[in-house]
Amino acid sequence: SPVRDFLRCLPKCEHHIHLEGALTPDVLFSLAAKNKITLPQDDEAFKSPALLIERYKRFTSLDDFLHYYYIGMSALVTASDFEDLAWDYFQHASADGVAHAEVFFDPQAHTARGIKYTTVLEGFDNACKRAERELGITTLLTSCFLRHLPPKDCLELFEDEDVQESYKSGVVRAIGLDSSEKPFPPENFTELYTKAKALGLKLTAHAGEEAPASYISSALHNLGVTRIDHGIQLVNDPELMQKIASDKTMLTVCPLSNVVLRCVDTIKDVPIRKLLDAGVQFSINSDDPAYFGGYILDNYVAVHEAFALSVKEWEGVVKAGIEGSWCSAERKEELL
Ligand code: ADE
Ligand code: ZN
Repeated sequence: SPVRDFLRCLPKCEHHIHLEGALTPDVLFSLAAKNKITLPQDDEAFKSPALLIERYKRFTSLDDFLHYYYIGMSALVTASDFEDLAWDYFQHASADGVAHAEVFFDPQAHTARGIKYTTVLEGFDNACKRAERELGITTLLTSCFLRHLPPKDCLELFEDEDVQESYKSGVVRAIGLDSSEKPFPPENFTELYTKAKALGLKLTAHAGEEAPASYISSALHNLGVTRIDHGIQLVNDPELMQKIASDKTMLTVCPLSNVVLRCVDTIKDVPIRKLLDAGVQFSINSDDPAYFGGYILDNYVAVHEAFALSVKEWEGVVKAGIEGSWCSAERKEELL
């Protein structure tokens, strides 16, 4: 369609994609077979990829999704499993017209089941380098910490020698905070973020996805993040919304995710218009494309169908995404 073509051609930056969330049911089943990983026998949904796809249409909450997300990624074992997964995502991103991609991964979900951090990182980093070489997409890896785990476990991983090396070498340039949001508020991770900031890492955190806007202010004030992932609950705190607008703090909004995980009833209830009216900078992202029924361009199209942004407004959204990116100043100039 003409709208889809217009949106595809915009120089889009993606800032909120969990690489493990790009694992499709077909790939999940074939990796489980290859790696001899037994999927749960007591859940009908794991009888076939088609049944799993049907189950993904009936998520009831973030936690209901996360249950499937963590089981799914247990099929990933070798460095090439991780590389193939990320490469599959980058090919979709390229076809959708993504110019720059900042991608999340969840090391603790792998180290907890005996996969080495270096194995995960080798695979993901190889795919990033290949995307830069073959697709011309610039990339940045963000290592996320799982907030449902004890903060001391997160600190322990952060201090691990291989993890520290990945920060020092610049292979990983940012940290994030994800997984089950309530009741795991940002301030539990103040020490972790203080240490990450001292290393010069970029800082972001999921906040205000299901939990209230107070999680957003805590992430800003206690963690020192310069970006908020999701952040849709911000519209319930007008004062904080004004502050975020004037500071040009970017939200990474994930419209299809919000609907599928029932944070909102329909796309029209994602506060796109309210954020535009308040002058809040935001980007549009896929979050977990294999679970939520669409990659980045599907999210752009859904937003257009619900809000009919003008060409000028779309150009503004894309510009905010470029300016909010953690790429080099030279790369921003190229994209603007
Ligand atoms: N991990 C993967 N997707 C997530 C989301 N939408 N919220 C929190 N943690 C996640
Ligand atoms: Zn997310």
